[in-house]
Amino acid sequence: MTRKHTSSKPAISVMVLGVGAFAHSTAQILKDAGVSVATYLTRNYGHYPPSLAGPVYSQEQFPSPCPLLKEKAVDLVVPMSIDWAQAPWKDELLSLGIPIFCPTHEGMRIERERDFARQLCQRFKIPFPQSHVARNRLEAEEILGKYPRAFVIKNPLCSPTSPVHTVLCESLADTRSWLKHVNYAEGVFLQEYLGPREAGHIALVSGGEICSLVTNQEYKRAFAGNMGIVAGAPLGGLVEWDPADKYGLARELIHPLLPWFREVKYHGPIQVTAVQRNGKWHVIEYNIRIGVTSGAMLLRMLANPIETLLQTGRDEKLAPRFVKNLNFGCSVTLAGYAYPHVQVRGPQLPVEVGGSFSCDVWWNEVARDGNDSLVSTGHRIADVIAFGSVLDEAIAKAYANIRKIRSLGSYYREDIGRSLWPPGNP
Ligand SMILES: Nc1ncnc2c1ncn2[C@@H]1O[C@H](COP(=O)(O)OP(=O)(O)O)[C@@H](O)[C@H]1O
Ligand SMILES: [Mg+2]
Repeated sequence: MTRKHTSSKPAISVMVLGVGAFAHSTAQILKDAGVSVATYLTRNYGHYPPSLAGPVYSQEQFPSPCPLLKEKAVDLVVPMSIDWAQAPWKDELLSLGIPIFCPTHEGMRIERERDFARQLCQRFKIPFPQSHVARNRLEAEEILGKYPRAFVIKNPLCSPTSPVHTVLCESLADTRSWLKHVNYAEGVFLQEYLGPREAGHIALVSGGEICSLVTNQEYKRAFAGNMGIVAGAPLGGLVEWDPADKYGLARELIHPLLPWFREVKYHGPIQVTAVQRNGKWHVIEYNIRIGVTSGAMLLRMLANPIETLLQTGRDEKLAPRFVKNLNFGCSVTLAGYAYPHVQVRGPQLPVEVGGSFSCDVWWNEVARDGNDSLVSTGHRIADVIAFGSVLDEAIAKAYANIRKIRSLGSYYREDIGRSLWPPGNP
């Protein structure tokens, strides 16, 4: 890798766009790998955690990150979500020509527009559940009349501020009830419900090639036993280092897209979420980022994270290397008071840590109060992440550490890794 600077300043400078545990983990892991990191805070919560890794800059102080990127001679931008492409400064950011660890332009449509992903799957003969776009309740009910079955209700355009959050209906009657209740401001995307056998896979696309990294699972239900509602973010996750794609998810659901990746000069992460029905994997959605849960695991698994991210940002050929014995990662989330019912808010509550941690702990909605004590500032307190050469080792270590944190009314799922794994199991 060529080094740009010769002064004592670290050779490479990275700007994370995000907040909370994503920004905390990404910034700290890249800092541990030897770069200088800073975070541009893209939302109004979770500001304290990334400040533990490096300087943070708020939107109030800096309406655009572009002057900071220039001033700091930033070499790489790592966004948490796709919302940067909706920001008033997106054209200026693109004009700076700084590598971004995220596809741009046409490539973004695969996550942003659900019906575009469906069309791509149709074009490349990738299994995708039967899906329909409806502009209003009348259209939605007509579709249900014509195709009476269970549909998952989603936003047609993905954004952290969408009026519709995925509603997982499991029967026709569930769907009928929910269609009376959702917000049609942006319309709805109805996708046939395919059951619980879910898994995911994350690859990088760069230099016109696809490079598999990990197979992953996210535990999205609020409570153990996969009960309760699908929470806003997962309660836990697993990642298995999987460059050979042993479960075939990349082969079946990502590789057929190669002509399109090349057509649109796609370079960046691609994550597929899939559900298996009748022994066949179907695409549920594509994401163009490494994810809030999985990202912190796969970055630790890479022996050369900086090189790999920079090369992806520059659309160069990749050669990711793997840290020996980190085959599996397990993430367990400590949820705070009233989660996942985020309408219910408690006060800021003490977050007490009894003993030192022997694994990664990424704080999310946590801050320091006037006495320098940790307090909760929202509904998700931390992600506790451990690794192992076998899965059980990673799981045991994560649980041994999460038990060291106490906060009133907080909870975590005690069964991460006990269902939905290996891929294909319910
Ligand atoms: N068609 C489907 N069949 C079965 N489960 C689904 C389906 N669509 C979504 N889900 C479940 O809901 C979760 C969220 O849906 P997803 O499409 O990933 O939207 P988002 O992540 O944007 O909320 C999935 O991870 C999966 O657990
Ligand atoms: Mg998803």
